[in-house]
Amino acid sequence: MKENKASITAYTVLQGIMYVAKRTKYKDLVPKDMKDLGEKVLSCSEEGQKRLAQLEKKGFALGVKIREYIFLPGITLHYILRKRAIEHRTREFLKAGVKQVVCLGAGFDSLALRLAEEMPDVNFIEIDHPDTQQFKAQALQESQRENLHYLSIDFTHQNLEDRLQECTGFTPSLPSLYICEGVTMYLTSEEITHMFTAIHNLSGTGTKFLFTALEPQDSPRNNTRKILDYYLKLIGEPIKWTMESPELEAFLKQQKCKILSLDETDQFRDMFLKGNDPVTLHRGEYLAAAEFERR
Ligand SMILES: C[S@@+](CC[C@H](N)C(=O)[O-])C[C@H]1O[C@@H](n2cnc3c(N)ncnc32)[C@H](O)[C@@H]1O
Repeated sequence: MKENKASITAYTVLQGIMYVAKRTKYKDLVPKDMKDLGEKVLSCSEEGQKRLAQLEKKGFALGVKIREYIFLPGITLHYILRKRAIEHRTREFLKAGVKQVVCLGAGFDSLALRLAEEMPDVNFIEIDHPDTQQFKAQALQESQRENLHYLSIDFTHQNLEDRLQECTGFTPSLPSLYICEGVTMYLTSEEITHMFTAIHNLSGTGTKFLFTALEPQDSPRNNTRKILDYYLKLIGEPIKWTMESPELEAFLKQQKCKILSLDETDQFRDMFLKGNDPVTLHRGEYLAAAEFERR
C-alpha cells in the first residue's frame, strides 16, 4: 500500500458493491444495510465521495465494462458473490457455536458491523492497516457497539499475535472464526505463514479460518489478464502470494489445518445466481474454510 493512503483496492471493492446495488439487475444481491453502510463509509472521505459521484455518471457503466475487459472479466459481480458466500459460511460457523469473529484486513466491508448488531452475544474485532481503518472508524463512529472492536495493524511491520494479545476487546478463550477476505494476495508467503501461526497460538485447536486466495495468474482456472499485475504494482498494491487450489489441502496441512470447504466461481453461481444466467464471472479467486488441528 502507498504510505499514508487508504487502500485503493478497498475503495474499488466497495465501489463495485455500490455499482451492483445501484446500477445493475443484480441489485437484490446487495442487502439494504450493506448498501446503506457502504454509502456512509464512502461519503466520509474525499476519495469515497469521488467514487460515489462516479457511480452517478452516465458513462460509468461503459467504463466498468472496458476496465473489466482489460483487467479482470466479471470482477464487479464477483465482489458481491464473494461477500455473500463469506456471510453464508460465517453464519454457518456462528450457528455451530462460534462466539468471536476476527476480520483481518477488513477494509470497508460491513459484515462485522451488521452481524454485531444482530448478535450482541458474539464478539467482533476488525483489524486493518491504520491508513485504511481511520476512514472507516470516522464514518461509523455513531454506529459503535460494545461487541465490536477496531484494532489497527500493518501485517508487514507489526506482529499480529502481540497486537491482538494486547487488545482488550479480544478474548482468547472464545471459540473463534478468523476471516481474511481479499487480502492474502498482498502478503508475502512469510507473512501468510506468520498469520496462520499467530491464529493458532492466539485461539488454539478447533479455531476456524475463512479466507480467499488467488490462483496463480497463468493458471487455467484464472481469467485475469497479465496487465493487472502491472496496474497493481503501479498503485502500490502488488500481488505477492497465490496458491493453486489443488495444492491448498497440502499447504493447509503444513499450517496444521484441515480443509472444511472450498467455494469457487461455480459454487458462487449455484448459490446466488439463477441457473442459466450467461453472465461472465470472474475466475481465479476462491474461498476456503479451514480448521486448526492439534500441533
Ligand atoms: C482489497 S482490500 C479488501 C478489503 C475487504 N477485506 C474486502 O474484501 O472488502 C485489501 C485490504 O487489505 C488491507 N491490507 C493490505 N496490506 C495490508 C497490510 N500490510 N497490513 C494490514 N492490512 C493490509 C488493506 O488495508 C485493505 O483493507
